[in-house]
Amino acid sequence: IGRNIYYEESVESTQIIAKLLSNENVPEGTVIIAEEQLSGKGRMNRTWHSPKYTGIWMSLILRPNIPLTKAPQLTLLTAVAIVHAIEEETGLQPEIKWPNDILLAGKKVTGILTELHAEADRIHSIIIGIGINVNQKMEDFPRELQEKASSLAIEKGELMSRAGLIRSFFKHFEKLYMLYLEQGFFPIKLLWEGHAVSIGKILKARTLTNVIEGKALGITDDGVLILEDETGYIHHIYSADIEV
Ligand code: BTN
Repeated sequence: IGRNIYYEESVESTQIIAKLLSNENVPEGTVIIAEEQLSGKGRMNRTWHSPKYTGIWMSLILRPNIPLTKAPQLTLLTAVAIVHAIEEETGLQPEIKWPNDILLAGKKVTGILTELHAEADRIHSIIIGIGINVNQKMEDFPRELQEKASSLAIEKGELMSRAGLIRSFFKHFEKLYMLYLEQGFFPIKLLWEGHAVSIGKILKARTLTNVIEGKALGITDDGVLILEDETGYIHHIYSADIEV
């Protein structure tokens, strides 16, 4: 991972470049990193605020030989790798909010956006977009984000080396990815659950069409969230925003 790196000063979105490169047979593990994104993409059609020199904005191209339905497992694996890198570099203990937000002191410091390119049931490539707020000060965030978002530097109280964090992420990602290819999702799922804030708690899941409240029982092997509502009915949540 990260042996083939494309580094850009300013781009619209590293996801767009990754998509173009993935059609050109670049090797698995190719990474695109930019200092700034002019229209960074978030989940659910949102934008991702990506100011210059302060964060890590990168996309990773993978070509695993797995069926389409297993792709969300790699998003969860990525979240675990980022948590391990943040722990190693800052000594802080981040938590994961399903599906893939990484929080410090309850505020979001990292987002992950996974995009798939597939033909029939075969994956051509998976592009994992990672945004880590590293050195922003609170006033660097737009006002509407200040309650919900933070950076590693704010939480740690000192500026961090972005290069150190990227190196640490590559190392942890590679280790987990090898484990995944050899042993499957089970060991990754255990690690993910060990860092998850939401399991065992009452959550509100806002999907595109409705709101479901219930106790989070865990995740399935496909990374789907399992909620039990007060009537005992079990819901499988594929995509939603979660309130704890
Ligand atoms: C989220 O909504 O939580 C996901 C945010 C993902 C942001 C990253 S930054 C690098 C990559 N390029 C993008 O345009 N988005 C992702």
